[in-house]
Amino acid sequence: MEILKTKREMQAWSGLKKKEGKTICFVPTMGFLHRGHVSLLEKGRPLCDELVLSIFVNPTQFSPNEDLDAYPSDIDNDLTLAKKAGVTAVFLPEKDDLYPGGFQTEVTPGPLAAHLCGKFRPVHFAGVATVVTKLFNIVMPDAAVFGEKDYQQLQIVRQLTLDLDFNIDIVAGKIIREKDGLAMSSRNAYLSAAQRVSARSLSQALQTAEKKIQAGETDPEQLKTELAAFIHSFDDTRVEYICFCDPNRLMDITRISSKPVLLALAVKVGHTRLIDNTLINR
Ligand code: PAJ
Repeated sequence: MEILKTKREMQAWSGLKKKEGKTICFVPTMGFLHRGHVSLLEKGRPLCDELVLSIFVNPTQFSPNEDLDAYPSDIDNDLTLAKKAGVTAVFLPEKDDLYPGGFQTEVTPGPLAAHLCGKFRPVHFAGVATVVTKLFNIVMPDAAVFGEKDYQQLQIVRQLTLDLDFNIDIVAGKIIREKDGLAMSSRNAYLSAAQRVSARSLSQALQTAEKKIQAGETDPEQLKTELAAFIHSFDDTRVEYICFCDPNRLMDITRISSKPVLLALAVKVGHTRLIDNTLINR
């Protein structure tokens, strides 16, 4: 497994592989890998000849009041997991290499970024779109795998791939969960034991909503009220949003019908912001 620390090294490596006729699959991450990340690597492994993992905590997708400085990291463990998953190259760029002095161009996503998390994290998706564009240009993959855990991010990446003419297959990976249902996240590491119990309320709320919808509930507002009350019955929780929306455009829906609906939520548990979602098909 190669470790490439600069964009020049990464570009040269990918250029060489392409010359040899090899295809490249890419999994971008911010590190502190867990089984969710590993599942994306496992999904990507058979798709191409080479498998590239990037680890970069991208500063431009964090607002000043967010957890950039506290973001957890364990490079040694990440490299062990990467090797085990069949990664052939790890890209570990420095911040100044990707954003040198004078950097000023941004990729601004369209209306998809205005919904859900975009309402609460105003700079987030422009930061994601910008770094993903840069990483695509540096790694030059044929396919890239993104998790449904960050469903809105996945949709925005699909759209930017289309809009900016990247010839890259965007592949989606399912949400990987802890035994009790909590969606795996690097940020779960921030939770105290008591908060960890409260964090279960997110996936439980999703399951409850799914059951009610399968039993005939059609009113998103009624469900939102019930789910918020359920989540708030757990200590230290504050709902940021609960949304029932159309899974492609992410627009709020006013009535649940036989069409697939995305239920997405964001909840602060203490200071930790958790997100989760599920696609419901009646
Ligand atoms: P990060 O949060 O490290 O996530 C990297 C990838 O892992 C994303 O595609 C995310 O959706 C996926 N992922 C996270 N938790 C998952 C889970 N429980 N199950 C399945 N997949 C999961 O997302 C980012 O980093 C960044 O925004 C990035 C795309 C790297 C740009 O900076």
